[in-house]
Amino acid sequence: MIDLFTPIDLPYEYDALEPVIDETTMRIHHDKHHQAYADNLNKLIEGDDSLASMDLSDLMKTDNQPIKNNAGGVYNHNLFWQMMAPSGTTIMGERTKEKLEEKFGSVEDFKTEFEKAGLSRFGSGWVWLVRDRNGELSIVTSANQDNPETEGAVVILGNDVWEHAYYLTYQNRRAEYLSAWWQVVNWDRVEEII
Ligand SMILES: [Fe+2]
Repeated sequence: MIDLFTPIDLPYEYDALEPVIDETTMRIHHDKHHQAYADNLNKLIEGDDSLASMDLSDLMKTDNQPIKNNAGGVYNHNLFWQMMAPSGTTIMGERTKEKLEEKFGSVEDFKTEFEKAGLSRFGSGWVWLVRDRNGELSIVTSANQDNPETEGAVVILGNDVWEHAYYLTYQNRRAEYLSAWWQVVNWDRVEEII
């Protein structure tokens, strides 16, 4: 099998996001779940030159559901690791604060709305802060490994609400995970994109 796609390395140690996200969760999430999406994708496109020449963004838009799912799994997690940073190492920038206040009224209101959306996503999926096609900030959710960029949005921030992202520490308490997760958001990255 050719390893066309591989998960990015974590930009921090496995235990760097503790206590918000425990080390075992990070190891399983990155080394097993993320790796499995890459392995599956590589297997699915093996031997097909036209597919093998496509990048993840294109593969996420194919009609082939298994390819779409696994390409999304690789892509979304590559984003996710970069969207986080050890607690206390970044703070929300001025531009981010202004933009969030302008759109949502206050940073707290933004967080509440984002958490509510993440909580209401039935089953597995993601909650995102995006710039939509009209250039407006918006909170959206997606099922499974779908990503709003395939609909023309720009992803600014996203949280994985699959149970594999939080179950070891939070069990069924997704709301608690969503609320604790702000501590490990990489606000420097948000500031660059928002
Ligand atoms: Fe995940």
